[in-house]
Amino acid sequence: MNNSEVRERIEKLRREIEDHNRRYYILNQPVISDFEYDLLINELATLEKKYPEFASDDSPTRRVGSDLTREFRQYEHKYPMLSLGNTYSFEELDDFDQRTRKLTGEPVEYVCELKFDGASISITYNKGVITRALTRGDGTRGDDVIDNVRTIKDIPEKVSNPSVPDEFIMRGEILMPRDVFKSLNEQREKEGLNLFANPRNAASGTLKTLDPAVVASRKLVCMFYFLLGEYLPYDTHYGNLMKAAEWGFTVADSIRVCKNIEEVKEYIDFWEHKRDSLPYDTDGVVIKVNSIAQQQELGFTAKSPRWAIAYKYKAEQALTRLNSVSFQVGRTGNVTPVANLEPVFLAGTTVKRASLHNADQIFLLDLHLHDMVYVEKGGEIIPKIVGVELSSREEKSEPVKFIETCPECGTPLVRNEGEANHFCPNYLHCPPQIKGRIEHFIGRKAMNIEGLGEETIDLLFSRGLIRNIADLYDLNAEQLVPLERMGEKSAGNIIRSIRDSVNVPYHRVLFALGIRHVGETVAKTLASRFPSIDDLMSSKEEDLTMVREIGPKIAASIVNYFSDNENIDIIRRLREAGVRLSGEAGKEKTTGNSLEGKTIVISGVFSRHSRDEYKEIIENNGGKNSSSISGNTSFILAGDNMGPSKREKAAELGIPLVSEEEFLKIIGED
Ligand code: IVH
Repeated sequence: MNNSEVRERIEKLRREIEDHNRRYYILNQPVISDFEYDLLINELATLEKKYPEFASDDSPTRRVGSDLTREFRQYEHKYPMLSLGNTYSFEELDDFDQRTRKLTGEPVEYVCELKFDGASISITYNKGVITRALTRGDGTRGDDVIDNVRTIKDIPEKVSNPSVPDEFIMRGEILMPRDVFKSLNEQREKEGLNLFANPRNAASGTLKTLDPAVVASRKLVCMFYFLLGEYLPYDTHYGNLMKAAEWGFTVADSIRVCKNIEEVKEYIDFWEHKRDSLPYDTDGVVIKVNSIAQQQELGFTAKSPRWAIAYKYKAEQALTRLNSVSFQVGRTGNVTPVANLEPVFLAGTTVKRASLHNADQIFLLDLHLHDMVYVEKGGEIIPKIVGVELSSREEKSEPVKFIETCPECGTPLVRNEGEANHFCPNYLHCPPQIKGRIEHFIGRKAMNIEGLGEETIDLLFSRGLIRNIADLYDLNAEQLVPLERMGEKSAGNIIRSIRDSVNVPYHRVLFALGIRHVGETVAKTLASRFPSIDDLMSSKEEDLTMVREIGPKIAASIVNYFSDNENIDIIRRLREAGVRLSGEAGKEKTTGNSLEGKTIVISGVFSRHSRDEYKEIIENNGGKNSSSISGNTSFILAGDNMGPSKREKAAELGIPLVSEEEFLKIIGED
C-alpha cells in the first residue's frame, strides 16, 4: 500500500469501528461478533503503529472503555469521580485505621454507609436549580443524562432552602429496587426481550436510555452519599449529608457515625445479614473519615481517596445436596444444564436450582450426582455452584454426564469447535425452537401481534394449532375461544391483530422471520438493497457480501435459510396471507420530502410517537436527525420536559423550537 492508500484504509477502519461502536453501545444491535470487531481494531492498531504519522488521539484505538456514549453531551467533572480502595477483611480495615490515625496524628471518627449497587451520578445545582447530571464516564468526563435524571422522582429539580450554596454537587447512586427489577424482567420475558442480569445493570442501562419516558416508567430511586462544593454548610461529612437531607435529598437511614474502628466493625457485622431485607442490592460498607479537615490532610492517591475505603461482603454461600441435573433447551437451541438442589436458604431466598452453564463447568467442578455442593449468589439472577465438598462424596457415586441427544426432540446435540455450548441442530422441528421463533415473529419490533403471550403460544402449539409462523394466519376465533383463560373478546382481538400485521412494512417482516444474524438493522439494510423477498431469495452469497455491513456470516445464514424448502413454503403461505414481502425499507411511511435538507434535533418527551419513531419519521421524510444542537440545526422537535441546557443553547443560536403537533402538521400526519 502506498501512503494515501494507508490513510484511506485507516480512515475507513475508523469510520467502520465508530459505526460498530454506535450499533453496540447505543442501538444495542451489533451486526458483527466481538471477534470480528477485535479483528478490525487490531488491523487499525497495527497500521497506526506502523505509520505513526496517521495516528490520532481520537482514534477508537486510543479511547478507553467507559460508559461514555456519543448520544449524550459530555462534560468535565468539576471534581474527578474516583473509585474506592476495596477490602474484604478486618485486618485490612485495621491497617486503614492505623494509616489514617498516623497520617493525621489524631483520633479519627468515621462515617459508615451501605455501599449501594447501582449507577453513580454527579448532579450539579446552580442557585438551587439542577443544571447537569453526569454519569461517572471515564472518571474525568461524564455523559450528561439530565433529561433522564429529571424523571426520577426523588431527585429534586429545585432546592429552595435559603442555606444552599450558590453552586454545589450532589453525588449518589441510582438504583432499581429489587421488586421493580423483578417485574421489569417478567415483562421483558413476556415481550421476548433480553433480560437484565441484575438490578445494577438494569439501573445503568435505563439511565442511558434515549427516551426519558422509558426512564420515568422504570421507577428508579437515588441514594445520595456525597455533598461537594467550595462552600459547604458543615465541617463534617455527616453534617453535610444531614443538611442535604433537609434540603430534600434522599440519604439512607442506615448511615452512622462511629467513634472508632471497633464501632465500624460492629456496623459491618450488623448489616452483613440485615441488608438482605432491604429493598435494594448492596455489596458492602463504605467507611469515610468524618472530618473534612482530616479528609483534606489525607488527600488522594491517583485512583482513590486515602480517607475512605469500601469493605466488601463476600458473596454468601450455602452447602446443599445436588439431587439431579436436568437439561433445558432454549429458544435458540442452546442446551443448558441446571442443577436441582435440596432447597436451601441463601441471602434472603430459598434456592432450589442453580445454573451449571455448560459441559466444561461440570467437568471443572468434577461434579458427581448427590454431591454436597457450595452455592453462591453472584451478580447474576440464578445462583451458581462454586465448589464440591469432597469429604461428603458417596462411594461409587456417578459423575454427572452431559446428554448426547436433545431432551425435547431426540436429535444428537452438536458442539461447534471452540464453543462452550451444546445446541440442538434441529432448527425446524425442535419444539422450544419453533415456539421461540413464533414468539420472535409476533414481537413488538417484528409483526407486533398483540394478545399472544408465551403461554398462549405454548397452548396453541401443544394443541397442534400452530407449527410455524405461517400457521398463525390460518387461525380463527373459534379455535381460540376454547383455550384456557381465553374469552371471545380476547380471541377476537388476537385474530384482528394477526390480520392487521399484514400491513407491517417489509423490513420488519424480514426481521420477524428470525433468520440467524439478521437483526433489525441488517433487515433494514437488506430491504433497501433487495426491494422484494424474491430478489433476496435469488441472491448468492457474493451478491450479499457486496452490501456494506453484510459479512460472510450473515450472507451464509441468509442463503442457508432460503435453501430450505420448508422456509420457502412458509414464505409462500405468508404471501398468500397478504403479508408484505416487498417495499424499500422505511419508505412505507414517507409522506413526501417535507424535511429535505433539514437537520433536526429531538428533545423531550412525546405523546404521539416514541423518540425512536420520530427519528425514523425524520429520515423517512428526507431529513437528518442529529443529537446535538449546532449552527447547522434547522429546528428542534421539542417535546415536554425539554432540558434547560438544550433550551438555552437553542435560544443562544436562534434555533426555532417546533412542537409535536406542529411537526406532525409539517409531515402531513395530522
Ligand atoms: S463514596 C471518593 N459512598 O461505589 C469516594 N460510594 O468505587 C466516592 N457507592 O462508583 C464514593 N455507595 O458509585 C460512596 N455510600 C457510598 C456508596 C458509593 C455506592 C459506589 C460509587 C462508586 C463506587 C466506589
